[in-house]
Amino acid sequence: MEVVIQPDHESACLLCARLIADALRAKPTLVLGLATGRTMERVYQLLAHWCFFDGLDFSLARTFNLDEYVGLGPDDPRSYRYYMNRNLFDKVNIDLRNTHVLHGLADDLEQECARYEALIAEHGGIELQLLGIGRTGHIGFNEPLSAMLSRTRPKALTLATRQQNAFLFGGVDEVPARALTMGVGTILDARRCLLLATGEEKAEVVAQAVEGPVTSMISASALQLHPHCRVILDEPAASRLVGREYYDFIYEHEPEWAPYR
Ligand code: F6R
Repeated sequence: MEVVIQPDHESACLLCARLIADALRAKPTLVLGLATGRTMERVYQLLAHWCFFDGLDFSLARTFNLDEYVGLGPDDPRSYRYYMNRNLFDKVNIDLRNTHVLHGLADDLEQECARYEALIAEHGGIELQLLGIGRTGHIGFNEPLSAMLSRTRPKALTLATRQQNAFLFGGVDEVPARALTMGVGTILDARRCLLLATGEEKAEVVAQAVEGPVTSMISASALQLHPHCRVILDEPAASRLVGREYYDFIYEHEPEWAPYR
């Protein structure tokens, strides 16, 4: 795991977006795993801007989203399919047929999850997986006690997660109780992972995920097992880390980071 700390939300989003854009330029047919949520909005804005003004080309890219609420259809403004169309897909030259989001209205949820796993495999697996982190330490919607080897499946959301997202639904009671989510094991199968977290409210859980023990109580801690995982933080989100000096040293001195400094 490598941790890079940027001064603020804007510069953290910029670095994250540049890493995604560079991966896409290096491989136009990239299979990209995507996340939703407030943190990602600026990242998608930047990618859309570069697509429009700098020729960043999504025409051959394939995408798989991490999760979707059970019970919400693609036309529901609160669904993650809707979020993705509005924040990214409608603004870049991607072929919508190459964008994949779990179907929250599927009759058979287990079958839908199996279909999604098979589709990811058919595409050769995810090459770069973008991740946020929730207050419970979830990645995707892998709430505490999600098995490290879990695959895509329906998952009950914690009260803390429903509270985190209540603003979108006009109250915590309106937030769906369940979601479909890639499993921790599905995420760990991605060739590279890129986690972005900003803001003071993420500081404690980021410290637990990055420097604490690997535990299913904090699903993001499983990323410590991943051979190619980068964590991009802003100063407030990094404020509880104890190994800061070393992380900064790597960012300042390792040649791979030279283009981004
Ligand atoms: C959503 C997802 C979640 C979010 C996390 C952070 O697709 O995968 O794990 O990344 O809940 O959400 P924000 O960015 O809204 O704090």
